[in-house]
Amino acid sequence: MSANVRPSSMQRITTAELANAFIEKQVAELRAQIGTSKVLLALSGGVDSSVVAALLIKAVGKQLVCVHVNHGLLRKGEPEQVIEVFRNQMDANLIYVDAVDRFLDKLAGVSDPETKRKIIGAEFIRVFEEEARKLDGIKFLAQGTIYPDIIESDGVKAHHNVGGLPEDLKFELVEPVKLLFKDEVRVVGKALGLPDNMVYRQPFPGPGLGVRCTGAITRDRLEALRESDAILREEFAKNGLAGKVWQYFTIVPDYKSTGVINGKRSWDWPVIIRAVNTKDAMTATVENIPFELLQHITDRIIHEVKGVNRVLYDLTPKPTGTIEWE
Ligand code: XMP
Repeated sequence: MSANVRPSSMQRITTAELANAFIEKQVAELRAQIGTSKVLLALSGGVDSSVVAALLIKAVGKQLVCVHVNHGLLRKGEPEQVIEVFRNQMDANLIYVDAVDRFLDKLAGVSDPETKRKIIGAEFIRVFEEEARKLDGIKFLAQGTIYPDIIESDGVKAHHNVGGLPEDLKFELVEPVKLLFKDEVRVVGKALGLPDNMVYRQPFPGPGLGVRCTGAITRDRLEALRESDAILREEFAKNGLAGKVWQYFTIVPDYKSTGVINGKRSWDWPVIIRAVNTKDAMTATVENIPFELLQHITDRIIHEVKGVNRVLYDLTPKPTGTIEWE
């Protein structure tokens, strides 16, 4: 039987007890596989790479080298949380790479969505490759591949796969959660002591906020996007919607409209709110968010976020609209 096929006898991990048994078995297997060698991991801070990091820290401690690349397209507070959880709390060997200027300079003036994605993906590999070359004695590359990535060729999470590394950096793969479904990865993450807001995090695309800052990305619009997204997340969490809505975020398009503030005309961006539910991301329905909450979020965004004078709610299901705007 191929190691990439989940045996039909494999029990679904639904409880802390089952998660602990999985962790114990994985830790033993990882130790046997890795020995005294070093393992490299691109740690995005998403659920899957975080769980892989926590498992490997438990198994081989500082033999794991985590690389967190801040490409400037992460949500508010994410790079800080990766540093806090993995370096400060778990005492991991974590290399933090501030590549913000590098990515934003490469993306300046680029408005085509696919070109933006390609630039982000290629630059990510380049930054990761540079970091890998600085290290000695790496034998393994850990990845947060999960079972849906194996059974669906167009997995939502291609960004975890740093398979584009050049030939001389072809490490042996370590994929300890590759037979798990997402809900099981979350149960394991919880059992490993990862914080709830990491374990129950909503899906986030590899190109990050880049696909929500439509057209050519600018720093000021990116800032408006990051701040409005933080307000939306805060309000959804406060109002019990965070675990109920599959994906919710804001978009800042690359056009402006007139407004009025303090008796003067303004010329500012709109913020668009998107909140959808789905099972497999192939189709999606729009959430019925209480109108008063939408008004409250609007009020906060127009008063707290610089450069924004309108808030819109996207009522479009998928199809016809994709979940992301690019
Ligand atoms: P769409 O916009 O196609 O998105 O309805 C479906 C799901 O995929 C996520 N998504 C991506 N994930 N890289 C990713 O890793 C990408 O380029 C990308 N584009 C969309 C999206 O957030 C949604 O969950």
